[in-house]
Amino acid sequence: MSFQRYMAMALYEPGFGYYVNGLHKFGAAGDFVTAPEHGRLFALALARQLEPLASRLGKNWTLMEPGPGSGSLARDVLSQLRNPPARYLLLETSAPLREVQRETLSALSEDLRSRVEWIAAPPDRGFDGAVIANEVIDALPVARFRVGETGIEQAVVTFVDGRLAWDYAPAEGRVLRAVEQVISDLPQPPGVGYTSEVCVDLPEWLDTVTAPLKRGMALMIDYGYPRREYYHPDRNDGTLVCHYRHRAHFDPFAWPGLTDLSAFVDFTAVAEAAQACGFEVAGFTSQAGFVLGSGVADQLEQVTDERDRMRLSGELKRLVLPGEMGDKFKVMALVREGDGALGGMPEAFALSDQVDRL
Ligand SMILES: C[S@@+](CC[C@H](N)C(=O)[O-])C[C@H]1O[C@@H](n2cnc3c(N)ncnc32)[C@H](O)[C@@H]1O
Repeated sequence: MSFQRYMAMALYEPGFGYYVNGLHKFGAAGDFVTAPEHGRLFALALARQLEPLASRLGKNWTLMEPGPGSGSLARDVLSQLRNPPARYLLLETSAPLREVQRETLSALSEDLRSRVEWIAAPPDRGFDGAVIANEVIDALPVARFRVGETGIEQAVVTFVDGRLAWDYAPAEGRVLRAVEQVISDLPQPPGVGYTSEVCVDLPEWLDTVTAPLKRGMALMIDYGYPRREYYHPDRNDGTLVCHYRHRAHFDPFAWPGLTDLSAFVDFTAVAEAAQACGFEVAGFTSQAGFVLGSGVADQLEQVTDERDRMRLSGELKRLVLPGEMGDKFKVMALVREGDGALGGMPEAFALSDQVDRL
């Protein structure tokens, strides 16, 4: 089978896939820690960017979060917004994860909890508001390709001596077209043997998930690079990465269903897909730029207890230091029906906007 199909099964096969088998994934006891799991600062940075939008849209705005994980981001965004949305939609198909989210959100006030709804697909009825996707795009199955002697090859998964193994076949159809499009956009074509990934389903996913957003902003946060860095000649073995109990490894055939599989995000591809479905790219920066630009470091000054200050400063460091999440993670703001009426670039991007790197 194609690697993309294998990755889809390893992550989402009902009952067995990594995200649907009911085992613990998020936080210290799981396999990886995402930004919202470090504390409340990341959610506060996002909430501050939503505040101006919320005031312009009025009380009846909606926030939708695909792939809400443990529910920490929903809890902390809701509790830190001065103008909380009338509805917070959690797009989650996994029953075990819905349970985890329900538990997390039980910490909220009755009023805030009553605004939360679980949905299995984006709603048919449109809304004004925002969509936030943190570390969702990296979990979309990717196709892996290699530049062969006679053309582009696509990675397939086969069995050798009873074990899963890589093989390659000539690429065709959507995969071939996607790879050719990427290559035509690079300053120089990659040489024979160059191997990487492409997320063929990204345009369709973005279109589907943002379809109900009539007016407002979508914030996409993930590890990734602009295209020229993503497909840099030195990065010649792709960006596929697996996580098992806080260790990164590079063997997607080890423990399928128990290990997380993901690939970095080509943010130029996100921008192209977004423009094709009517968005303007209003901002793009590193997570460090975004968090510092949002001004949440001011929280440190407001804490008097020395222990709390240490904890908060540790949290800030994890979010912004280059060796931690600061550089590797990027934040992209997409605005639909902007015309300046929705305020253009959110404030947090102004510190180090990098749209021209896309
Ligand atoms: C790495 S987790 C991130 C969870 C959470 N957003 C966080 O930051 O902790 C990726 C999540 O995206 C979800 N996901 C993957 N594909 C999706 C899709 N097509 N639509 C919605 N969610 C999806 C997965 O089920 C998983 O919960």
